[in-house]
Amino acid sequence: MTHLADHRSDQLDQNAAGDYAFRVENIFRTYFLKGETVHALRGVSFDVRNGEYIAIMGPSGSGKSTLLNVLGCLDRPTSGRYLLDGDDVSKISDYQLSRIRGRRIGFVFQSYNLLQQLNVMENIKVPLQYQGLIGKDANQKCRELANLVGLGDRIYHRPTELSGGQQQRVAIARSLVNDPYFVLADEATGNLDSKTTEEVLDLFESLNNSGKTIVMITHEDEVAARAKRIIRLRDGKIESDVLNQDRPQ
Ligand SMILES: Nc1ncnc2c1ncn2[C@@H]1O[C@H](COP(=O)(O)OP(=O)(O)O)[C@@H](O)[C@H]1O
Ligand SMILES: [Mg+2]
Repeated sequence: MTHLADHRSDQLDQNAAGDYAFRVENIFRTYFLKGETVHALRGVSFDVRNGEYIAIMGPSGSGKSTLLNVLGCLDRPTSGRYLLDGDDVSKISDYQLSRIRGRRIGFVFQSYNLLQQLNVMENIKVPLQYQGLIGKDANQKCRELANLVGLGDRIYHRPTELSGGQQQRVAIARSLVNDPYFVLADEATGNLDSKTTEEVLDLFESLNNSGKTIVMITHEDEVAARAKRIIRLRDGKIESDVLNQDRPQ
């Protein structure tokens, strides 16, 4: 990544009309622990348009997990706004937050988090079941997603009968089943060897090429290099926010 252009200055104006997946406005997250105060996020602002592919990087302790928890509606900021599809979700109830989390955000974790007793189809279907959204077209949708991630011929396999890369493909299919606002991936290739990492990153890239918005938390340069935009955190603040000039925008 040799050619980097600053992406911050014109960004908010440019996106004022809308068409963003989400917007984070001056977010602070302060932890109070045994009389000690930790300022994990200290005024973070950025927005992500629909169809973007961003990587969020930063050294250990810089606030990545804290930001992930806010973006994933697992936690609320201490102050500041988090606008998701136009609504400020930073002040809504736990119940509403969990509904948005379950219905509108697609999670992909380092450890896949598949249910071992379920096959591929059933794992992909889990978020629909949780949300009581099983309709007559659910099976068809899960089958299409299995095809999309290249596992159309493995739909009755269980996780133990799949490679790590295949398991992560199931998790990616599952993350898409509710048509989320965006896919939030946390060190999604952290358990994979380099060849499988490339394959999974190829899949994220093709999803993004078909219009999916992707937010990838990673500490690996090779992984971030595949994103179109890279945000770096340091000490709870954005240190840089640049377009990746090595990738077609
Ligand atoms: N639940 C918590 N209670 C208190 N402090 C926390 C908590 N979670 C994180 N922190 C602190 O907040 C800062 C940012 O942590 P974190 O978001 O986990 O960073 P990263 O994921 O980039 O390593 C660190 O100083 C960490 O010790
Ligand atoms: Mg972390």
